[in-house]
Amino acid sequence: MKKLALAMAVATFSCGAAAKTVVSDNEAWKDKYPNQYASWAETQETDAVIDLLEKNPNLVILWGGYGFMKDYKKARGHQFAVTDVVQTLRTGAPMGDMDGPMPASCWSCKTPDSARMIAELGEAEYSAKKFGALGHEMSNAIGCADCHDGTSPKLTLSRPFAERAMETVDLAFADQDRKMQGSQTCAQCHVEYYFDPTNSGAVKFPWDMGMNAEQQLAYYDSIGFADWTHAVSKAPMLKAQHPEFETWAPSIHAELGVTCVDCHMPKVSNDEGRKFSKHNVGNTMDNFDVACSSCHDSKSDMEDLLKANKAEIQAKQALAEEVIVRAHFEAGAAWDAGADEAEMKQALTKIRHAQWLWDFAIASHAIHAHNPSESLRLLDSAKATGLQAQAELKKVLDKHGVKQPVALPDFSTKAKAQALLGFDKAADQAAKDKFVEERAKGQWETPLK
Ligand code: HEC
Ligand code: HEC
Ligand code: HEC
Ligand code: HEC
Repeated sequence: MKKLALAMAVATFSCGAAAKTVVSDNEAWKDKYPNQYASWAETQETDAVIDLLEKNPNLVILWGGYGFMKDYKKARGHQFAVTDVVQTLRTGAPMGDMDGPMPASCWSCKTPDSARMIAELGEAEYSAKKFGALGHEMSNAIGCADCHDGTSPKLTLSRPFAERAMETVDLAFADQDRKMQGSQTCAQCHVEYYFDPTNSGAVKFPWDMGMNAEQQLAYYDSIGFADWTHAVSKAPMLKAQHPEFETWAPSIHAELGVTCVDCHMPKVSNDEGRKFSKHNVGNTMDNFDVACSSCHDSKSDMEDLLKANKAEIQAKQALAEEVIVRAHFEAGAAWDAGADEAEMKQALTKIRHAQWLWDFAIASHAIHAHNPSESLRLLDSAKATGLQAQAELKKVLDKHGVKQPVALPDFSTKAKAQALLGFDKAADQAAKDKFVEERAKGQWETPLK
C-alpha cells in the first residue's frame, strides 16, 4: 500500500512550454533537503483551534444561508490543511463520489496531491469532479511540490489557474525575479478565488479588471456572479476568501520590495553555518532580527504597533457589522411586509457591496500587519455603503407601513444565531462524524492529525 502510494505520487504534465513533475509525497524530499524539510515540518506547531463564530456571532448572521455560518475557524499551520478541510462542516458528509456540497476544486489549496491530480487528469476533468470523488488521492500536507518543480529547488506555480491569473495582471511568473516568484507561490492559495461555472468549475481569481477590492467587485458584478443568496435579506452575496496577495500588493512593503518570503521565510543558518530558507512560514515575529530589524528598530515597539493596528481595525469592523447586520434584518422585514423584487433591487445591491468590502478588509486575518490602512479604508467604505442600503430600505419600509426601527432578534451567541437561521447543527455534526469515521478514515485512509 505505502509503496504503491509513493509510485503514484509522481505525475508529469506539460502545459504550454515546460513539462512539470509533481512529487507530492513530502517524505521523498526529506533526505535531500533536511533543513528545509525540518523547518517545513514545524508548521504543525501552529495547532490551536480558534472558533471565530463563537468569538463573533455577527459572522453567523452575515453569512446566513452559506456554509461559513456553520463553521469558521482561524487558519492553522500548513500541516493541518487536509485534516481541517475534511473535518469542517462546510464540506458536508459526502459518503458517495457524487454527494456533498463541494467540488474537487476545494482540494486545490490544501495539498500537493491536488497538483498531481490536475497533472494526471487534466484541469477540466479534475475540476468537474466532486470533493468526495478524489478524497482517496489526498493525503500529503501542503508541501514541497506545491512550490517546487520535480525534486529541485526551482520555484514553480503548480496550479495552472494561478499561472493564468498572474498573466491577467501582467505578472507572468516566468518574467518575475525570484522574490516575486516566491510570493506567487503563496498566491496560489492566499488570494480571493471562485469556481468558474463557464470553465468546468475550475478555480479562477477574479482579477480581469484588477486586483483591489473594488476592481474584483466590479468584475463579479459584470458577470452577475453570486456565491449564495442571503437567508434573511435574499441579497445576492459574495464571500471574500483570504486576499493576502491582493492586500499586500499595494502596501508600503511591496513598494519597497519586501515580499511574503522576506518576512515569512527568511534565510537563516544551520548548525554548520550554511544558509537555508526557513520553511515554517508562521510565527513571523520570531523572524524579527533577520526579517525586520534592517528597517524597524524594536521588536517590542513592533508588537505594540501590531496590537494597536488590530484594535483599530476591530473597532471599525464592529461599526460596519452593526450597519450591515441591521440592513439584512430590515430587508427581511421588508420582504415580510410584501415588498417586491423591483422595490428591493437597489437596497440588495448595496448590501452585497457593503458586505464584500467588509469581508475583503477582514478575511485576511493579518491585514493589521500587511496593510492596515487599506483595511481601515475598506471598512469605512463598507459602513458608508451599508448606510446607503439602510436609506434605500427605509423608503421600502415606509411605503409598506413597517414600524421602525425594526426590532432585531437575539443573536448574541453562535448557537442562538445559528438556530435563528434554522441551521440544525446536531444533524450536520452527526453526518460529519459518520463520514469522518467510515469514509475519510475507513476508505480513504486520510492521515488526520
Ligand atoms: C509555499 C511554498 C513552498 C513550499 C511548500 C516549500 N518551499 Fe522550498 N522554497 C520556497 C521559496 C519561496 C524558497 C526561497 C527561494 C528564494 O527566494 O531563494 C524556497 C527555497 C528552497 C530551497 C533552496 C535553498 C533554500 O533553502 O533557500 C530548497 C532546497 C527548498 N526550498 C526545498 C523545499 C522542500 C524540501 C520542501 C518541502 C519539505 C519545500 N521546499 C517546501 C517555497 C516553498
Ligand atoms: C497550496 C496552498 C497554500 C500555499 C501554496 C501556501 N499556503 Fe499558507 N495556508 C494555506 C491554508 C489552506 C492554510 C490554513 C490551513 C488550516 O487552517 O488548516 C494556510 C495557513 C497559513 C498561515 C497561518 C498558519 C501559520 O502557520 O501561522 C500562514 C502564516 C501562511 N499560510 C503563510 C503562507 C506563505 C508565506 C506562503 C508562501 C511562502 C504560503 N502560506 C503558501 C494554503 C497555502
Ligand atoms: C512586512 C512583513 C510581511 C510581509 C511582506 C507579509 N507578511 Fe504575512 N504576516 C506578517 C506578520 C508580522 C504576521 C503576523 C501578525 C500577528 O501575529 O500579529 C503575518 C501573518 C500572516 C498570515 C497569518 C494570518 C492568520 O490567520 O493569522 C498569513 C496567512 C500571511 N501572513 C500570509 C502572507 C502572504 C501570503 C504574504 C505575501 C502576499 C505576506 N503574508 C506578506 C508579516 C508579513
Ligand atoms: C526594507 C525595509 C523594511 C523591512 C525589511 C520591513 N519593513 Fe515594515 N515598514 C517599512 C516602512 C518604510 C514602513 C512605513 C513607515 C513606517 O511606518 O515606519 C513600514 C511599516 C510597517 C508597518 C506599519 C504599516 C502601516 O501601514 O501602518 C508594520 C506593521 C510593519 N512595517 C511590519 C514589519 C514587519 C513585521 C517586518 C518584518 C517581518 C517588516 N515590517 C519589515 C519598511 C520595512
